[in-house]
Amino acid sequence: MGSGIAHTFAQYHFPVFLYDSNTQALDAALQKITTNIERQIAKGSIPLSDKQTILGNITPTTDIKSAAKNCVLVVEAVPENIEIKQNVFKLIDAVCPEETILASNTSSISITQLASFTDRPDKVIGMHFMNPVPIMPLVEVISGMLTSKATTESIVEMSKAIGKTPVCTADFPGFISNRILMPMINEAIYALQEGVAGIAEIDQIMKLGMAHPMGPLQLADYIGLDVCLHIMEVLHTGFGNSKYAPCPLLVKMVHAGFLGQKTKKGFYDWTTPKNLIANDIIR
Ligand SMILES: NC(=O)c1ccc[n+]([C@@H]2O[C@H](COP(=O)([O-])OP(=O)(O)OC[C@H]3O[C@@H](n4cnc5c(N)ncnc54)[C@H](O)[C@@H]3O)[C@@H](O)[C@H]2O)c1
Repeated sequence: MGSGIAHTFAQYHFPVFLYDSNTQALDAALQKITTNIERQIAKGSIPLSDKQTILGNITPTTDIKSAAKNCVLVVEAVPENIEIKQNVFKLIDAVCPEETILASNTSSISITQLASFTDRPDKVIGMHFMNPVPIMPLVEVISGMLTSKATTESIVEMSKAIGKTPVCTADFPGFISNRILMPMINEAIYALQEGVAGIAEIDQIMKLGMAHPMGPLQLADYIGLDVCLHIMEVLHTGFGNSKYAPCPLLVKMVHAGFLGQKTKKGFYDWTTPKNLIANDIIR
């Protein structure tokens, strides 16, 4: 997500520092950005000359301190883990100028809680991009309990300035996008677990019948089954309602290391170019 966010800001002429604690991840991110730019050029959505412009606007770094000096906005996209996010929010709060807005791309963690790790809760906000970032038009803008109106307005304007459509929500578990999407995915996994239909049938019904561009099980693989499980746990704990209990099959697949596209195996087998359906591996 971090590479997609950097790509998008750079495409709209903002100079970006792409910070990661892992140099290999930085190399992989730059490779991914280059591939995605080439894809955009091949599709005719951007001119060839944009390649150098976008890449020229991105400075990869592992030195957060010097990168942070002149930043007006930080968009955090570290893994969906509260301890990691807490450490990163404390760090960026310490090194950024006091007027810098600290946004999080979290899918589900409370913005109010992230703000509590800083001395600037009025300048902490959710800026939830969708995957793949350069293509998806939405930014879900989540105001925490202490986020100021000025911060929300800045992020709304900033989202428009990078070609996105901002939509504002309050800070409750899963916000809007994942509060609605994840229970649907979880229910699809329950239907699979109960043998109501197979993977292909479930996805086909939702694609052909509901005009979804991809079925819920394919989408779960694409998002990452660990991410899906984590969001269901946040909804379950946050609302204290059993209707959000993660499906046991989802839990089992995560324990088995079947995390979807990123581990090449999930509901689908991503090692083959055709994404052959792997009903057999989950039983
Ligand atoms: N994957 C999705 O479809 C999606 C969609 C919307 C939002 N999100 C959210 O975006 C965030 C990132 O998700 P992702 O799928 O890109 O995760 P990821 O694991 O692919 O990438 C996280 C990156 O953070 C780096 N990192 C880890 N610890 C760090 C630290 N302490 N300091 C600096 N960098 C560190 C890792 O090296 C890695 O490159 C999560 O909060 C997730 O919920 C994900």
